[in-house]
Amino acid sequence: MMSKTPSDTETPPVIQITGLHKAYGPLEVLKGISMTAPRGHVISLIGSSGSGKSTLLRCCNLLEHSQAGEILFEGEAVRWKGQGQARVPADRAQVTRFRTNLSMVFQQFNLWAHMTILQNVMEAPVTVLGEGRAEVEARARDLLDKVGIGDKAGAWPAQLSGGQQQRAAIARALCMQPKALLFDEPTSALDPELQQEVVKVIKDLAAEHRTMILVTHDMRLAADVSDHVVFLHQGVICEEGPPSRLFGDPQTDRLRQFLSATMAN
Ligand SMILES: Nc1ncnc2c1ncn2[C@@H]1O[C@H](COP(=O)(O)OP(=O)(O)O)[C@@H](O)[C@H]1O
Ligand SMILES: [Mg+2]
Repeated sequence: MMSKTPSDTETPPVIQITGLHKAYGPLEVLKGISMTAPRGHVISLIGSSGSGKSTLLRCCNLLEHSQAGEILFEGEAVRWKGQGQARVPADRAQVTRFRTNLSMVFQQFNLWAHMTILQNVMEAPVTVLGEGRAEVEARARDLLDKVGIGDKAGAWPAQLSGGQQQRAAIARALCMQPKALLFDEPTSALDPELQQEVVKVIKDLAAEHRTMILVTHDMRLAADVSDHVVFLHQGVICEEGPPSRLFGDPQTDRLRQFLSATMAN
């Protein structure tokens, strides 16, 4: 685990969620979730398929609407209008500002097939943030170098391996200069040997004290990079704490069962 400077606790958390509820029609998926991502910390979310991990991540950056509970970004609460099933964010500019500060990396990369790797990385800063092309291109090329695919700037996504595509997707997320990165199972679609090149990039980002929320099935990665691990079960936090305790001394049968099933794979 990385050591943190005292200033981490003096600034408001990048993301703070309290009492979050989310249902899809009659299906209650998140049943009162509270979670904090202090600046410079890595929070890992683990749990069985269907436990609500992706939904929680998508609620964080307002890709999904929640029906109750608060979401704060650097101490500023999302403003809502309506209640319950009718609750939606009230301020579109606020939604855009929050979302552009929380870049997401998806399991399936989601690169634009009709754009080169460089164009993919440059797209959002130019079109969403309105930054100048030259400045964005220089940053994009630096980021492609950083994730080890500087030579692929002119290639099409289909010409890259899965591991290279995911590293391009991470460069794209970083090019927005977000306050936090949200990863949804970034290595799950990759063959084991390609997973490691993505794991290395995520470890490098953790070592730079990037704020991250990481949904992963890779327990070794979660143990290595996390400051705090949250175990979700059927939409509630069943257990949470430092990785040494969650992985070394789980307190609940559910977590013990989950870990033994996951490690057996
Ligand atoms: N768009 C949706 N519409 C209806 N149900 C959904 C939708 N997305 C997810 N769910 C359901 O919500 C539950 C949690 O899903 P998800 O957040 O994807 O879990 P996880 O990422 O932990 O596998 C599951 O029962 C899933 O079927
Ligand atoms: Mg998921």
